[in-house]
Amino acid sequence: MSHQKNLYNAAKAVMKNAHAPYSNYHVGAAVLADNGQTYIGANVENASYPEGWCAETSAIAAMVAAGAKRITEVCVVTKSDPPGTPCGGCRQRLSEFASADTPVHVTNLDGKSHTWRMDELLPGAFKLKD
Ligand code: THU
Repeated sequence: MSHQKNLYNAAKAVMKNAHAPYSNYHVGAAVLADNGQTYIGANVENASYPEGWCAETSAIAAMVAAGAKRITEVCVVTKSDPPGTPCGGCRQRLSEFASADTPVHVTNLDGKSHTWRMDELLPGAFKLKD
């Protein structure tokens, strides 16, 4: 799928801009929104370690700042093998804007990838209706 490749390229490119001098773990995230636009983000660490945040969170913030509210596909790129999956907090943040069947691709630079459904990553997600 070409949009999947586009998302991967966007996430890979932004991963290079991660500010991760403490963990040296660079993460890039790209979310496709229902307006057809792709929003990107990298992890942003801080000398005060707990103040840093994840790539997925950055991408969600970019999407919301641009006025979009629904995520239709996600791609996360790390150098990990197997590719790193979104942390628990980011699963909850993604779930706010995604649907149960939204594909979340986790990939690495060796071309390894796995696609999860949102509800596999966060079964029984807490929603506003709860
Ligand atoms: N990180 C992400 O950007 N996304 C995740 O889902 C997992 C962790 C970042 C946070 C921190 O900068 C580094 O990876 C190491 O935990």
